[in-house]
Amino acid sequence: MDAQKALSQFGDNKRAHLEDLKNLVRIPSVSFPGFSPEEVRRSARAVFDLLKTSGLENVEILELEPGVHPYVYGDWLRAPGKPTLLLYAHHDVQPPGREALWKSPPFDPAERDGRLFGRGTADDKAGIVVHTAAIASWLKACGKLPLNVKLVIEGEEEIGSTHLALFLSKYSKKLQADAMILTDTQNYDIGLPALTVSLRGLVSFDLEVRALRSPKHSGMWGGPTPDATMALAKILSSMVDEQGRVCIPGIWDEVRPVTGSEARAYAELSFSIPEFRAQAGFLRDTHATPARDGTVKPLIQMWREPSLAVNAIEASSRKQAANSIMDSAWARFGIRLAPDMDPKRTAKLVEEHVRRVAPWGIEVGLHTHDGVGAWGIVASGPAFEAAMQALELGYGRKPVLMGCGGTIPFVEPFAKALGGAPALLIGVEDPYTNAHSENESMVIADFYSCIKSAIHFYALFAEAHRA
Ligand code: BES
Ligand code: MN
Ligand code: MN
Repeated sequence: MDAQKALSQFGDNKRAHLEDLKNLVRIPSVSFPGFSPEEVRRSARAVFDLLKTSGLENVEILELEPGVHPYVYGDWLRAPGKPTLLLYAHHDVQPPGREALWKSPPFDPAERDGRLFGRGTADDKAGIVVHTAAIASWLKACGKLPLNVKLVIEGEEEIGSTHLALFLSKYSKKLQADAMILTDTQNYDIGLPALTVSLRGLVSFDLEVRALRSPKHSGMWGGPTPDATMALAKILSSMVDEQGRVCIPGIWDEVRPVTGSEARAYAELSFSIPEFRAQAGFLRDTHATPARDGTVKPLIQMWREPSLAVNAIEASSRKQAANSIMDSAWARFGIRLAPDMDPKRTAKLVEEHVRRVAPWGIEVGLHTHDGVGAWGIVASGPAFEAAMQALELGYGRKPVLMGCGGTIPFVEPFAKALGGAPALLIGVEDPYTNAHSENESMVIADFYSCIKSAIHFYALFAEAHRA
């Protein structure tokens, strides 16, 4: 069988595909403002080369507008009458965080204990190589693929896919497909593959409070003089209750209640609080926040309820901490959105709340970043069945369905632009990956299993589509 030939081709070239991944990881393609956009371009060129050497055709770097991080496109459309898959991953990465905490340099990929460490190893450069390795294996072994593929590798996912609407208006015709595979999510555990069926949305805010024209000596002026940092702390802390749950008035009104069948599906997943605490890295005495119903049900909280995180605070610094009252203070915070929560309505509730609770008549500047709604899909139909079977064959273990508390802005608008084509979300992250943090890594064996699954999937989906 052709899939077997492709698999054995892959078996002989695994290490070379791991090297493909390492080459991508060596490029610090951080898409955040303040980091060199030239590195993202360099990364796009490396992806371009990889797509070419993998046998893709019509490979192109897509420049949307000057100053927009480039996407990379490639296709192989020589299977007339066969279905077309849209394959997605992103080549931009998060900033490295605190370099001193990395056990090996973030952009110098290192193998330790069966894992590959480095920024972007899991999120999401492995996602790119899963596609290219599967395609190259088929083309080298068989000279063809069993179906058509179109690859889109995004360059601005980690900053919220700010130009997605423009991208869609330009390219949605070119990208028409029967189903999409996005390799940017996680497995339920090491060696335990998962298909992700829901994502939370996200809306983020920059909050700046200003109380004084300049910092003031806290001895000379302290008492009657408003402290901007304290005002910021009060506003931030007013947005969650004593237990840590979001409590901005009205915010829970739209949250779609968890249905009995959802709750049963989550209950089937093997889960223990001690294991969850270990994976999340809780310190000994810190404990989990209860869910809406007062119980501690982390899966429901992470996948189906809103949550709020303060991502960064600026108000003087450790180095310059003086006996002063700070004039202004700044924070970035994000609210993860549950299904049915509208990002615009959430932003309005936050704005009203912040203005209502801001103390001492201080000035409040609130900037809302573009929001992304939650996404979900009913896991049934031929594409899902083929995906479940492919994951089982690739990993040698029955896959599970899971939710995901994170956000991928590409999914919802794209599935829509493709006329509701099914979106299959898979990926090589695992609970120990540490994405967005220091020492990000992925399990090399799972990376290989994921590629094998992709190889199987092409054949199974082509077959299912014919039937
Ligand atoms: N790969 C993640 C999404 C994800 C998160 C998958 C958790 C599996 C588990 C993606 O790269 C990501 O980080 N998305 C951002 C989107 C945001 C910038 C709009 C996120 O969730 O913060
Ligand atoms: Mn990602
Ligand atoms: Mn990410």
